[in-house]
Amino acid sequence: MLKVKEIKIEDLNPKEFIKEKIEEIFSIVGGGLAINALSGGVDSSAVTLLGHRALRERLKTYFIENGLMRQDEPQKVVALFKKFGVPVIIVDARKEFFGALKGITDPEEKREGITSAFYKDVFGKLVIKSKAKYLLQGTNYTDIEETLAGIKRQHNILEQLGIDTQKQYGYKVIEPLVRLRKTGVRKIAEVLGLPKEIYNRPPFPGPALSARVIGEVTSERIDTVRKATKIVEEELCRTKAFQYLAILHEDRVTGIRDGKRDFGLQIEVRCWDSKDAKVGSPTKLSFGTLQKLAGRITKEVPGVVSVTYNITAKPPSTIEAV
Ligand code: XMP
Repeated sequence: MLKVKEIKIEDLNPKEFIKEKIEEIFSIVGGGLAINALSGGVDSSAVTLLGHRALRERLKTYFIENGLMRQDEPQKVVALFKKFGVPVIIVDARKEFFGALKGITDPEEKREGITSAFYKDVFGKLVIKSKAKYLLQGTNYTDIEETLAGIKRQHNILEQLGIDTQKQYGYKVIEPLVRLRKTGVRKIAEVLGLPKEIYNRPPFPGPALSARVIGEVTSERIDTVRKATKIVEEELCRTKAFQYLAILHEDRVTGIRDGKRDFGLQIEVRCWDSKDAKVGSPTKLSFGTLQKLAGRITKEVPGVVSVTYNITAKPPSTIEAV
């Protein structure tokens, strides 16, 4: 059973919501310290600004460099928030995350590995170091719904799964956006003054590119999917699609390169029409667009000999592959 009640977009008064949340964060944290992780997505960006307005320098904002993010992401995010007067500290946690993912191929085990690396190893240490008692995070209504339905364990669901963060990790979690779906969060981000490139940004999963690698997640395999992601985003950002992504498959297939057999990698492209990620259908991309994607990916991403397009709806597919 969901403990929180959804605020539907038609019932949302953004200004009032923002005012309420700032007051709520201020009253919970009191004179103490809070920390939060900013990934540059719309949820964590909105939470960062809410927290900053409520707590100013009593909020410490970190960008966790887990090695799983898109190209140039840490620098871009830090530069953007500097403009809002929010200092962002980059924490190098690549060792912890790749260590937690080593040898794991099962999707739910991967998600568990990420959750534990994030909340226990990385944040556990940061909390002790900073002496903060609260972690602010951008969990939304859909995250909880899908986790409780047993579809996917979203990386940020804790309390709703019966995890006592105070007991297990040593801090409490505050989730100001938990009653909103993505469209509501976008509205809040816009009214908070964030730029369109943030409030309109396609969703990106918490486990980052590891949600797009089938089989073991290694830094080499992340590098492959990162390069393919960049091409997919460049080619599809002008579509009106809800989300578009590249997935690296585990199986290899026979291809030909320079007249020789090349037992190479496969990339699957997905592009979704959806309102709130709950259900979705594949975007009817033109064949020319698909061919251009295949051409660029096989030319620019080392080792790839095959590109496919997912034509399945959600359900039974899900948006990410893991
Ligand atoms: P799925 O793959 O479950 O994704 O159809 C639904 C939406 O959620 C995003 N997603 C996540 N977001 N933590 C997040 O914050 C996660 O663990 C996670 N997994 C998937 C996904 O990109 C899509 O928009």
